[in-house]
Amino acid sequence: MPLSSYRRFDAALAHAAQSVERTLDRLLPKGDTGEARVFEAMRYSTLNGGKRLRAFFVLAGATLFKVSSLSALRTASAVEIVHAYSLIHDDLPAMDDDDLRRGRPSCHKQFDEATAILAGDALQALAFEVLAHEDTHGDASVRAVLVAELAKAIGAHGMVGGQMLDLLAESQPDLSIGAITRLQRLKTGALISFSCTSGAMLGKAAESLRMALAAYAHDLGLAFQMVDDLLDIEGTVAELGKTPGKDVASGKATFVSILGKERAQDQAELLAKQAAAHLEPFGEAADLLRQAAQFVVSRRS
Ligand code: IPE
Ligand code: IPE
Ligand code: MG
Ligand code: MG
Ligand code: MG
Repeated sequence: MPLSSYRRFDAALAHAAQSVERTLDRLLPKGDTGEARVFEAMRYSTLNGGKRLRAFFVLAGATLFKVSSLSALRTASAVEIVHAYSLIHDDLPAMDDDDLRRGRPSCHKQFDEATAILAGDALQALAFEVLAHEDTHGDASVRAVLVAELAKAIGAHGMVGGQMLDLLAESQPDLSIGAITRLQRLKTGALISFSCTSGAMLGKAAESLRMALAAYAHDLGLAFQMVDDLLDIEGTVAELGKTPGKDVASGKATFVSILGKERAQDQAELLAKQAAAHLEPFGEAADLLRQAAQFVVSRRS
């Protein structure tokens, strides 16, 4: 059943997760050569659950523009591969020093630090290899757009820049709300933005429609990170599959440390409504994305 025929978000998300996991399994390296340890670490940290929300955004966005399911699945996989790399490195002792991820030992705990660094590096490279392959799109100029946009989203002016600011925020407890917003937009928002707009790139959609999805992603990305920060305080290990309380323990400035819990929750809900309002040009076809905005602020994991 194609994603567009699902009416309910939870069933659609489960479907998206299942189909992207099948694709990931095929794309990730396998083998018994000397370097297989890094293959195992890559597979361990990519095929280990996760909500697959970013994959869902790619697939749901692609349904708006009649993109083929192979194109959409490969792009969704590239995004989940990048996300897995970012989490492996985020958990390293030099960064958040987290022992638990998705309910299991984090990559450097299961393997070792050097293997975790290499697995992250190789995952990042693999994502671009997947996008650049002709199976992802028949038109080389579309593939070039995907590669360039993903590179921008996760590089120094995107996710990596945000991670740098996030680490510096551990010694800046009085960061302004504007500075936190910028940090979060880069750290989390940029990859979510790529996820939501890649369907428009694949479908060579009109600029105005891509911009509508970018506006949706902008508000949704902030709401997503506000809830991540709230869950760090309110969630349990069993719910989150990662260690709660890390942000407070490191003295990190977050949306919650600046706004307080209640205002952060209110603000996240407002942003989710605002995100959904940007979907108007798509009418009913964007219903799953509307529900996704609601899920982002009501989730417990
Ligand atoms: C966690 O992302 C890391 C952030 C960017 C806040 P998710 O909450 O989407 O993690 P998974 O993929 O479901 O494990
Ligand atoms: C991680 O943010 C963001 C990236 C990996 C780019 P967090 O450090 O808040 O994520 P969690 O809470 O460990 O999942
Ligand atoms: Mg972090
Ligand atoms: Mg972390
Ligand atoms: Mg967090």
